[in-house]
Amino acid sequence: MARITHGIGCSHIPVLGFAFDQGKEGEDYFKPAFDGFEWTRDFLKQEKPDVIVLVYNDHASAFDMKFIPTFAIGCGETYQPADEGFGARPVPPVPGHADLAWHIAQSLILDEFDMTIINEMEVDHGLTVPLSMMYGHVDEWPVKVIPLAVNVVTYPPPSGNRCWALGEAIARAVESFPEDLNVQVWGTGGLSHQLQGPRAGLINREWDNGFLNRLIGDTQELRHVPHIEYLRETGSEGIEMVMWLIMRGALGKSTRALHRHYHVPVSNTALGHIVLEPVDGSVPPSPTLEGNNEAAQALI
Ligand code: DHB
Ligand code: FE
Repeated sequence: MARITHGIGCSHIPVLGFAFDQGKEGEDYFKPAFDGFEWTRDFLKQEKPDVIVLVYNDHASAFDMKFIPTFAIGCGETYQPADEGFGARPVPPVPGHADLAWHIAQSLILDEFDMTIINEMEVDHGLTVPLSMMYGHVDEWPVKVIPLAVNVVTYPPPSGNRCWALGEAIARAVESFPEDLNVQVWGTGGLSHQLQGPRAGLINREWDNGFLNRLIGDTQELRHVPHIEYLRETGSEGIEMVMWLIMRGALGKSTRALHRHYHVPVSNTALGHIVLEPVDGSVPPSPTLEGNNEAAQALI
């Protein structure tokens, strides 16, 4: 049986990818940012997860105004890094896990989440920067990745509560996959940042740290933080934090933090990173999944 063993939250700031690709991790400005990932790199070498469900947002690289899926899942075999204007990052192609991805897609849709299924797409810094932070320089990625893209770029993004509930549905889906796999769920983006307009450069350490605090333990308060609070307190791009709630929801009732890192400044963005372990990973049952699964079986 597949198991969700840990959740990881991580900002996906593009300049960290640039610094990493240029070998600038040791420079005074970047060192404190990169140092906070060392614990996690050692941890992942021991943990060796098989698959990551990597929740991120595309930044007009694979999607544009022609189509804007709220939630999309990558069911392909492999994903090429996107050209984001300065060429594609020099990182290896990202291997998918098509079998588990299709299983999760089916389970989520039968569980009433209307996922967009994607078989072919390129992945941008939202996905590749967290991989580089966590695995360092590699010739090939030592893990398979299921990209789960969320629209947080064009209004309206999904609510925090909806994201948390999607995480719970992912937990139900993974649990019903028969192969024995160590699965992690990662949430990326944030923390506070605003890239445009008169409030560009806004950082809110206090709110960000309160957000990290509320990912730990059994509080579900973050489900109910409205979009307007993210915008007011954390800037227009701070709304990316709702993606962390998919990760948190997938960890079930209660969590403990194994590692935590917060650093300002990185570019115009507050860097946040957390490693969470489920303490009580139970999630509420779905009112419809079981019945729909029965119907699906009957059709085979
Ligand atoms: C920047 C872009 C992002 O997507 C993000 O999450 C943080 C920072 C940037 O362009 O600096
Ligand atoms: Fe982003």
